[in-house]
Amino acid sequence: MKIALVVGARPNFMKTGPVYFELKKHSQYTPLLIHTGQHYDKNLSEIFFEQLGFPKPDVYLGVGSGTHGVQTAKIMIAFEQFLLQEKPDLVLVAGDVNSTVACAIDAVKLHIPVAHLEAGLRSYDRRMPEEINRIETDCISSMLLTPSKDADENLIREGISRDKIFLVGNAMIDSLMYFEKQAENSQTMDDLGFNKHSYALITLHRPSNVDDKDNLEIILDAFTEIAEKIPLAFPIHPRTRKQLTVFGFEDKVNKIPNLKLIDPIGYLDFLKLEKYAKFVLTDSGGIQEETTVFGVPCLTLRENTERPITIEIGTNQLVELHKNAIIHKVNEILNGKYKNGSIPPLWDGHTAQRVVQVMDTFNYSFS
Ligand code: UD1
Ligand code: UDP
Repeated sequence: MKIALVVGARPNFMKTGPVYFELKKHSQYTPLLIHTGQHYDKNLSEIFFEQLGFPKPDVYLGVGSGTHGVQTAKIMIAFEQFLLQEKPDLVLVAGDVNSTVACAIDAVKLHIPVAHLEAGLRSYDRRMPEEINRIETDCISSMLLTPSKDADENLIREGISRDKIFLVGNAMIDSLMYFEKQAENSQTMDDLGFNKHSYALITLHRPSNVDDKDNLEIILDAFTEIAEKIPLAFPIHPRTRKQLTVFGFEDKVNKIPNLKLIDPIGYLDFLKLEKYAKFVLTDSGGIQEETTVFGVPCLTLRENTERPITIEIGTNQLVELHKNAIIHKVNEILNGKYKNGSIPPLWDGHTAQRVVQVMDTFNYSFS
């Protein structure tokens, strides 16, 4: 069985990696790794291959950045050529990025079944490009590999047949559990001059937060006040760095004392910073999940989340985009008032094994 695994953007590497390595253990499978090139900066792509021990991709499509239409179309054109040549038996896509939906559409039109890893998540906010990618990918996939029960319920509500839905758990947490010990050797926390539990970690890249000048200014004003109480580490996404320049906010952010603005960092470095942060302030999807597993308080700067389980049983809370609301939540945490959480079922480090078990019994004929 030839299984094509698609990666393209930063979170894909941590989700798909465990499945790739698990498939490698089984002689009946030939996994092929296809990198679309959606992310291409060293610190958004190559660094993960170095740190996660991934072999070089079998195919690199090199599509790069663009508007949604341009990027999605370029991936489709390039990936279709790969499919026509290699004719895999199954295409596995992960998450909700443009590479996910583009490759899924290509595959089904060539009658190649698609497995969607992290299927069924919904924010119910169609202004998010990722929500469109999730809905489209799920409705054309033959194998819907879900991380949590709420995802199964969303899919069933949308009329997807139960026999396509497989609750396997969270593959990104396989990576976390596998690399957690190794991450202890990272020096980044020391290099930044931080001690355990005495700093907060920030990430920011959602268009709704960083592509809107007023919203980005509210967030930076909040950071300015928070930094008076606790040092901040801010590994900045290139999209956000670009927007700081576009809006003329570089000076504003550089002047925040106690805020360390750094390039995106490698996975091992990030895991350690995340694990020992007093709290994390983010709009990332995956980081809501990782903080829940680490038991670190997470404030998510969004109106909604496609990962409600991190709120229901994890350490995550949504925060309104108002300076005072953000500062209020931070003060609560600094005063020791935050919710403890627990780890969702099947986020146990063995998701990739369950994915391969599903593949073992799957009917590969396209229908
Ligand atoms: C993408 C995903 C988002 C995911 C995020 C993870 C989509 C629609 N969005 O957002 O769901 O949460 O990745 O990080 O798929 N850029 C660089 N270097 C790079 C990549 C991007 O400088 O290696 C800059 C470019 O200016 C580019 C911008 O970042 O235009 C946005 O990149 P893009 O891949 O379109 O979306 P992300 O914001 O990275
Ligand atoms: N991450 C990383 N370095 C960073 C920021 C994040 O390795 O500087 C990792 C993080 O541990 C998680 C993933 O990247 O595994 C999350 O990716 P991102 O926030 O870009 O995407 P999202 O999850 O929002 O789609």
